[in-house]
Amino acid sequence: MTFDEILTRVITLLQQEGRVSYRALKIRFNLDDEYLEGLKDELIEAKQLAANERGKVLVWTGGLALSSTPQTPDTGHRTPDARLQTLDPRPVSYTPKHLADRILAEQAAMEARALPDGERKTITALFADIKGSMDLIEDLDPEEARAIIDPTLKLMMDAVHRYDGYVAQSTGDGIFAFFGAPIAHEDHAHRALYAALRMQEEAKRHAEELRREKGLNLQLRVGLNTGEMVLRSIHKDDLHADYLPVGHSTSLAARMESLATPGSIVVSEHTHKLTEGYFEFKSLGETRVKGVSEPINIYEVLGVGSLQTRLQVAARRGLVRFVGRQNELEQITQAWERTRAGHGQIVGVVGEPGVGKSRLFYEFKLRAQKGCLVLETFSVSHGKAYAYLPLIELLKNYFQLTLQDDERKRREKITGKVLTLDRGLEDILPYLFFLLGLAEPTSSLQQMDPQIRRQRTLEAIKRLLLRESRNQPLLLIFEDLHWLDAETQAFLSLLGESVATARMLLLVNYRPEYQHQWGNKTYSAQLRLDPLGQAEASELLTALVGDDTKLQPLKQFILEKTEGNPFFMEEIVQALVEEGVLVRDAVGAHSVRPLPADLHIPTTVQAVLASRIDRLPVAEKELLQTLAVIGKEFSFSLLKQVVNQPEDTLQPRLLRLQEAEFVYEQPAFPEIEYVFKHALTQEVAYNSLLIERRKVLHERTAQAIEKVYSDKLEEHYSELAHHYGHSGNTEKAVEYLRLAGRQPMQRSANEEAIRHFTAALQLLQTLPETHERIQQELSLQIALGVPLQAMRGSAAPEVEKVYARARELCQQLGDAPQLVPVLAGLWVFYLLRGELEITHELAEQIFTLARDVEAPALLLQAHRMIGITLFWRGELAAAKSHLEQAITLYDPQQHRSHAFLYYGLDPVAVCLSIAGWTLWQLGYPDQSLTKSREALTLAQELAHPPTLAFVHIFTATTHRFRQEIQVVQELIEQTIRISRLIAGLMRYLNSSDLRGSKYRSAKTLISR
Ligand SMILES: Nc1ncnc2c1ncn2[C@@H]1O[C@H](COP(=O)(O)OP(=O)(O)OP(=O)(O)O)[C@@H](O)[C@H]1O
Ligand SMILES: [Mg+2]
Repeated sequence: MTFDEILTRVITLLQQEGRVSYRALKIRFNLDDEYLEGLKDELIEAKQLAANERGKVLVWTGGLALSSTPQTPDTGHRTPDARLQTLDPRPVSYTPKHLADRILAEQAAMEARALPDGERKTITALFADIKGSMDLIEDLDPEEARAIIDPTLKLMMDAVHRYDGYVAQSTGDGIFAFFGAPIAHEDHAHRALYAALRMQEEAKRHAEELRREKGLNLQLRVGLNTGEMVLRSIHKDDLHADYLPVGHSTSLAARMESLATPGSIVVSEHTHKLTEGYFEFKSLGETRVKGVSEPINIYEVLGVGSLQTRLQVAARRGLVRFVGRQNELEQITQAWERTRAGHGQIVGVVGEPGVGKSRLFYEFKLRAQKGCLVLETFSVSHGKAYAYLPLIELLKNYFQLTLQDDERKRREKITGKVLTLDRGLEDILPYLFFLLGLAEPTSSLQQMDPQIRRQRTLEAIKRLLLRESRNQPLLLIFEDLHWLDAETQAFLSLLGESVATARMLLLVNYRPEYQHQWGNKTYSAQLRLDPLGQAEASELLTALVGDDTKLQPLKQFILEKTEGNPFFMEEIVQALVEEGVLVRDAVGAHSVRPLPADLHIPTTVQAVLASRIDRLPVAEKELLQTLAVIGKEFSFSLLKQVVNQPEDTLQPRLLRLQEAEFVYEQPAFPEIEYVFKHALTQEVAYNSLLIERRKVLHERTAQAIEKVYSDKLEEHYSELAHHYGHSGNTEKAVEYLRLAGRQPMQRSANEEAIRHFTAALQLLQTLPETHERIQQELSLQIALGVPLQAMRGSAAPEVEKVYARARELCQQLGDAPQLVPVLAGLWVFYLLRGELEITHELAEQIFTLARDVEAPALLLQAHRMIGITLFWRGELAAAKSHLEQAITLYDPQQHRSHAFLYYGLDPVAVCLSIAGWTLWQLGYPDQSLTKSREALTLAQELAHPPTLAFVHIFTATTHRFRQEIQVVQELIEQTIRISRLIAGLMRYLNSSDLRGSKYRSAKTLISR
């Protein structure tokens, strides 16, 4: 065994047993001291999955363990007894060839992708064991014991393999298996449950024999859980998989097994949620599980449920109002009209998973049902290996066979119906019986050549349906042909030849990977079902969550993520409800918590997308993962730089991703851009990469951007910050965030600026505290202050917090030149809160600083602040003098940038406005108006929206003093228009602080 193999086995052992002594490990795996040390280092230090106890015992810490106490013989979990270790434990010995080939292909793919550390996968884990195996075989000799255990293990494995699962380990008296990896399946949880049920069914049969022959009582326990794991590698020689569980994924499955009473199957909440409706469950209530803080609900699986398709499950939840698709319905209706007139038709609807193919059929059925016979069937994802499944289902529907009918009853129903339809069909009966498993053991069909039997069976069903269509129009629905088995495929081809002259509409649907065969027939049509358009998607969302305007941002967010795929929309809304972000009531939904920054992709959606991605050939899958790191949109030259492949290799791969509709081209200048079709595909592909690999790709992407766009880097600051942030290059990330934050401010896109600066500040905290870091933090805090003032109002507590912290940083740095803008931020804060004493002190302090430094720019600000403070204090003459000095010092070229440093407004536009008011109060109405108008002209020249809004409102007040109501109204209307543009200023205008009592009293004082 290689080191990795031993490591994986020890992990599984520890998960099951909780603790193992070093001695036992050495004996069990034949380890020398050095090997043992290596294992300890890996488990304790590197992976942090276990701890050392007194230098003697290894204790599992990587999530819950099954037991932390030494095992007693009857727990069922123990060291596999030597007597039980009879089967060859290497997966290669028991994995069927067709699965082994697919698993090896997957490994080759991982190698080709150069993923030394493997990939993340969502899987369903299954543990099964023979309850009390020790007691069972206690008195038997080893050979006899083997004769009992081996067939049992074999039937467990067969059940897993039947549903394309992977048996990772045989533990002597049980197995550990997973579904969803190495081979991805969108329905891994369903497959795992089918396997579990089959296992129990077979075991019961086997146990019955044992009881009769040997008086033994054999029972299995099965436990399942769905979660994530990292599949590291699969060994080519023996198919052994190295994997690491993420969180409790596999240990919780083991725990479920230990909770199962003998003969039963227990699943965790997560697995239950994914399979509810498809299976019958009994709730076993809540259970506390060691290592998991909240109790979890567990369920016993009773059997297969009544629902079989996703749409049936959705229908039970209550179908959402049907939107759009009127054209498609119309086209199917036309085909149906022609069919009824005796010209049979075939309509194939093709579309991506979840786009609404099944729903379209469902809606059509509702409209078409009168005076016809509807027969429906479908293939299932594990159906390719099961010949005839859809046909059997179809016949069961036609003959209305139920689970309660015994064999005799079934034969009667079939015979009765066929002979009533047409006595001439009597010869098809044996074939129908045979297909439905009702044939007598003596039937001549048993001996017939299989090829001939197959052909005649298909003919029989065709004749039956064609005959029926003479009595009444037949609507035959076959869903999900992409999973069709070869026999049913052959049947459809056969039937397709005869449709044209029958009153039969063959309505089929499939995903794009299926190639249909009726393209050249005049009576066949293919309908392409695209995602819902913007308007319909919004309508669907409204149907899902109501039309509360407060939910608009959430709706927008969902629309962007799902791009009109109704299934994705429903699942995301459902996930938000489950996460408590949305609460639904009778009228609709409302948001109770802010939107999470990164949306948790529902497992259902994840599974659909992951299995699509996993079906891609290696090179394309790798490319898709790289694209997922680069971003939702990217140019070809950037991509080329990142992947570093020759163009003639890269182009065809990209083309295939386009053909498979993962990405599409978008015209852009100067070169074409590529865009992910679904943001969710991008996220799923991204999440499948291990964090280390993502880091490397992010760093490469950032460097590629710096290179490819070196002449216009400013257009890519936030992308660069994103990539460096995720590559672990914090210094660069902070720098780009700072640069990115300054850009939106110049466009007054303040929220964006706040986001960038806040992110930069957070990242900065992860760096060691150096002089340079303090300096960086200070400039970031100051930069953050201004957009915060604009968006939250200058008197908001966040604003004070930012400037107070900045003042502290200035003190740490000694005499920092930035102190002036910092004090200025605090000054406005206290001014607007009406705390005029502190305001005055701060203004004086600024004035002293500015005078000492002798910088005209600072002096200008100082005069402004003192002037304004004095105005509000009612010291009008002094106020006037300071404001005029500020105005004299102004150089529009040089001081324009002040609007981004102080207060978010141009200093002189403000001074002119306040000077206008001062002059009014002093008794110079005409001069007052002139100043106010000058302020307006300046603001218009500057075209800086916040300044413009501010000056408008101040000028309007001057006109109000003059009782020029018409002008006041015009100015106010303009203010509202500008302010709508900058929602933050609206907040300023409405700010409660502005209407605070201190402010009011100051105003009253002045107007007196
Ligand atoms: N036009 C629509 N209006 C409202 N809901 C829709 C519409 N189309 C689909 N849905 C809903 O979206 C979900 C997914 O649709 P559906 O099951 O028909 O997808 P599908 O294309 O058949 O997917 P798959 O390929 O996986 O079978 C269902 O719950 C369905 O009710
Ligand atoms: Mg469907």
